[in-house]
Amino acid sequence: MNASEYHIPELISEESIQERIAELAHALNTHYHGMQPIILCNLIGAFRFYSDLIREMTIPLQTEFISFTRYFDDIPDKTLTQMKPARLNLHNRHCILIDDIWDHGTTLNALMHDIQALQPASLYTAVLLNKSNDQKIQLPIDWVGFSVPNVFVIGYGLDYKENYRYLNYIGILSDSANKT
Ligand code: IMP
Ligand code: MG
Repeated sequence: MNASEYHIPELISEESIQERIAELAHALNTHYHGMQPIILCNLIGAFRFYSDLIREMTIPLQTEFISFTRYFDDIPDKTLTQMKPARLNLHNRHCILIDDIWDHGTTLNALMHDIQALQPASLYTAVLLNKSNDQKIQLPIDWVGFSVPNVFVIGYGLDYKENYRYLNYIGILSDSANKT
């Protein structure tokens, strides 16, 4: 598949993403100086943001990769989610949760809840994108890369049906032809 084939409109350029990530990394370096935080990557969507952020960080840190198990109980339309166990012990550690996008906030809310249950010394959250959405769960998100309109965005880790994660920029999936 070739992105240019589909004429995916660019919302945030590769250059803008990298500039903003350098600013976020600088803020994290300052905030976590001397604390050796654990940086948690919520797979899969955050993987590119995460790796570029780590690359720009200059303090000692530990990496961890987390994801959700989703399962359905007997009640129709009710999806239950639970964080898969982390390899590292998060108890009494300074943790930073990294995610791709804060849309409704259901995912972040559940993740933050599950991480807090492990009693870290602190938990802060950084997301690359904050989507404008009227039905948001209000959450204490500490660092945001960009605010985006309420459109479906793809690229730089974000997918539509597992496609487009490879794009180096954030695009808008506007054309129904792109969805097939
Ligand atoms: P939530 O609505 O904040 O719980 O978002 C759930 C998940 O849906 C996010 O972590 C993303 O992986 C995915 N998601 C939400 N909006 C978009 C989008 O515009 N493009 C691609 N994935 C999205
Ligand atoms: Mg996600």
